[in-house]
Amino acid sequence: MPVVDVRSISHVALKTRNVEQQTYFYTQMVGLGETERDNADQVYLRCNTNHHSVVLIPSSETGFDHYALDVGSPAALEAAAGALSKAGIPFKTEGPAELGQGTSLRLRDPDDYVVELIGEMAQVAPTYGPRAVQPRKLGHITLLVDDCKRSAEFYSEVLGFRVSDWVDDIFLWMRCNPDHHGLAFAKTGTIKMHHFAFELKDFSYLARQADHLMHNGYVLLYGPGRHGPGENHFEYFRDPESNLIEFMSNIQQIWDDATYEPKVWDSQKRWVNLWGPEGPADFV
Ligand SMILES: [Fe+2]
Repeated sequence: MPVVDVRSISHVALKTRNVEQQTYFYTQMVGLGETERDNADQVYLRCNTNHHSVVLIPSSETGFDHYALDVGSPAALEAAAGALSKAGIPFKTEGPAELGQGTSLRLRDPDDYVVELIGEMAQVAPTYGPRAVQPRKLGHITLLVDDCKRSAEFYSEVLGFRVSDWVDDIFLWMRCNPDHHGLAFAKTGTIKMHHFAFELKDFSYLARQADHLMHNGYVLLYGPGRHGPGENHFEYFRDPESNLIEFMSNIQQIWDDATYEPKVWDSQKRWVNLWGPEGPADFV
């Protein structure tokens, strides 16, 4: 039994030097809705009825700040705090530091990434903005780590994730619900967030998204293609501050944890892209 049972991927928080430019990109290019801003000028962006899936934090730096996982209810969050204490896993309790969510717990994973646990998220109107293509949700986050196996142990034992697939000791995918992966870990020799992914309705929406970004001067970094692990269609872009984002669709669903057998992919065979082309040099 894991210490905590995470139910879904909640949000990702990015530091930004240029809040307006990033807000423009995520609303007008990605298709998120601006829910509101707080007193610290943090911008809360949504894809669906959840108050936020992306938070932009004004800063002198850019890049990843933290990400958050949802344990399903305030009662589950309270139970999580008790279970973490009992297991001797250090964490901090924060008041509602971000709008739209209640109390949160913050802990550090083995690579020192800040993992926020929440138990409730305000529900807001699902409709917003003029974009016809709007992501359905924040699908997954891929982190560069020191040791994929060590990460897998932490995330399964402490947070209840299950291993979906892996490639040698260089890549590993984990799930907390039927989506094949909500988190992925890659070993490349550096420690930073690699990318986060928005789920679109289907492959035609990936085409429309690529058209829209291209019309606005953005260039596709990689894709479209189909990943082996997870079977999802993908395409990658960089935001104006160089964060790598993925749009994806048709991710494999794993409904029966008892019968699912993780696939082990051969790094020497095709796995990143079943359709062929490997990513460009600046993809990793
Ligand atoms: Fe957060």
